[in-house]
Amino acid sequence: MTSPILVTGGTGTLGRLVVPRLRDAGREVRVLSRASHEGEDGLQFVQGDLATGEGIEAAVAGTEIVVHCAGGPRGDEDKARHLVRAALRAGVRHLVYISVVGADRVPLASGIDRAMFGYFGSKLGSERAVAGSGLPWSTLRATQFHDLMLLVVRQLARLPVVPVPAGFRFQPVDTGEVAARLVELALGAPAGLVPDLGGPRVYELATLVRGYLQARGRRRPILPVRVPGKAARAVRAGANLAPDRAVGRRTWEDFLADKLGPTHNGTVVATGS
Ligand SMILES: NC(=O)c1ccc[n+]([C@@H]2O[C@H](COP(=O)([O-])OP(=O)(O)OC[C@H]3O[C@@H](n4cnc5c(N)ncnc54)[C@H](OP(=O)(O)O)[C@@H]3O)[C@@H](O)[C@H]2O)c1
Repeated sequence: MTSPILVTGGTGTLGRLVVPRLRDAGREVRVLSRASHEGEDGLQFVQGDLATGEGIEAAVAGTEIVVHCAGGPRGDEDKARHLVRAALRAGVRHLVYISVVGADRVPLASGIDRAMFGYFGSKLGSERAVAGSGLPWSTLRATQFHDLMLLVVRQLARLPVVPVPAGFRFQPVDTGEVAARLVELALGAPAGLVPDLGGPRVYELATLVRGYLQARGRRRPILPVRVPGKAARAVRAGANLAPDRAVGRRTWEDFLADKLGPTHNGTVVATGS
C-alpha cells in the first residue's frame, strides 16, 4: 500500500483540480484545510492552518509526497516555512510547489511596489524556503490562471469607467492544465525548478476587459492608468509573462465561452511562440 499524497490547498481553485487527478492515478489523497470536511474512500481531510503551523504535523504524518497548493495574497512564505519544517520531521521525500512566473523578476523597491506586487515577493520567499529546505523538491511557475483573470476583469468591469493599468499584459493559463502538470511532477522524481507553464497567448489587460464586457453585452469606457514604481515597470516590460513557454493549450476565448456563453470575441494582441 502506498502512503497518501498530501495536497495543501486541495479545496482551492487549483488544488480542487489536483485532487481528482491524483485519485484517477490510483493514489490516496489527504487534503489540508483550515475548515473541517467530510472525507470519503481514498480521500481524507485534515484540519490545520499553515499560517500558524497548527495541525500541520498531523497533516504530513505518514506522507512521502506533498503538493503545496495552499496560498493567498500574502504570508505564503511563512506558510511554506511551517510546511517545510513539519515535512522534514516527517521524512517527506518529495515536495512539489506551485509558484508564479515573474516571482524572481518583479522588484519590490518601494511601498507602492510592495502594496501592489508583494505577492511576487512572497512567492519568491516560498520558493526559497522549498529549495533551501533540504527536502527533494520540484517547483513549477505558472502564469495567471484563467479563473483569476476572470475574477480580475469582473471586478474591474463593475465600475462605470473601467480603470486599467496601462501596458499590463497577461498570459492566462488553464487551471486544469496546471493541475495536470503538478500531478505529473508529483508522480515523478524531484526535478527542482522546472520550465515555466504559460498560457497559449499574451493579451493586453484592456483587451481582456473589453472581451469580457462584450461577452456580457455591456459597454463601458476604459481609462488607462499609469501605475508608478519599479515593479509596475517590470510588469509593463513583461516580467509576469513566459512567451517562450506558451505551452498551455486552452485559450482565454474558449474558457470565457465555457463560462459565459459563446458570444465572446476578444482580439488577440500578441501570440506566444
Ligand atoms: N491564481 C493564479 O493565477 C496563480 C498563478 C500562479 C500560481 N498560483 C498559486 O497557486 C496556488 C493556488 O492558487 P488558487 O488560485 O487555487 O488559490 P485559492 O483558490 O485562493 O485557494 C487557496 C487555498 O489555500 C488554502 N489556504 C489558504 N490559507 C491557508 C492556511 N493558512 N492554511 C491552510 N490552507 C490555506 C485554502 O484552503 P482552506 O480555505 O480550505 O483552508 C485554499 O484551498 C497559490 O499558491 C497561488 O499563489 C496562482
